[in-house]
Amino acid sequence: MSDVLTIAMPKGRIFEEAAELLRKANFQLPPEFDDSRKLIIDIPEENMRFILAKPMDVTTYVEYGVADLGIAGKDVMLEEERDVYELLDLKISKCYLAIAGLPNTSTSRVAQKVATKYPNIASTYFREQGEQVEIIKLNGSIELAPLIGLADRIVDIVSTGRTLKENGLVEMGHIGDITSRLIVNPVSYRLKDERIDDIVNRLAEVVDQL
Ligand code: PRP
Repeated sequence: MSDVLTIAMPKGRIFEEAAELLRKANFQLPPEFDDSRKLIIDIPEENMRFILAKPMDVTTYVEYGVADLGIAGKDVMLEEERDVYELLDLKISKCYLAIAGLPNTSTSRVAQKVATKYPNIASTYFREQGEQVEIIKLNGSIELAPLIGLADRIVDIVSTGRTLKENGLVEMGHIGDITSRLIVNPVSYRLKDERIDDIVNRLAEVVDQL
């Protein structure tokens, strides 16, 4: 079993697009792959094992080598700065990191509060801008923070823009575009390079046609 390739898949919104990409690249994933509550799914036909992880944790599994490969958002890679290699931009789950707040929020007051799931990205960004801010780490529903007076601004992912709009928030800056990436553990890549290159080539062909 040692040549089984383990892949960390993010649960949630990236999962569906990632599974579709794998199927288009001709990996035989059974239908129950999509609905299962199992956290480890073996696909013996492909000699693959999938670990279903929280998106924020995918880079951790890959860095520690318990997964050879992973599918991770660029946002997670920037936030976590794990020791992994990026092999391919899968061009799925497109979104961007933005700064937002209530309309007419003044940015001139010193030591503003910024709420985010991405404390490292946010502090680097504001440091580079020469702005002194206090970062407040939240784990979700970030858009709540300005509405209830916890923070002046937020740093968060924008996809369709609906969440901002429906909560009366406006964009105040663009930090960077985000897509999901195929990542690899450096040691796995040395030991299993042929198999991994084959996966990269098959996925790259599908991505090129997107
Ligand atoms: C993400 C993000 C925004 C929302 C943006 O949250 O943090 O809240 O999606 O999407 P939209 O622009 O299409 O509205 P997610 O749904 O992952 O949940 P979370 O609040 O738990 O982070």
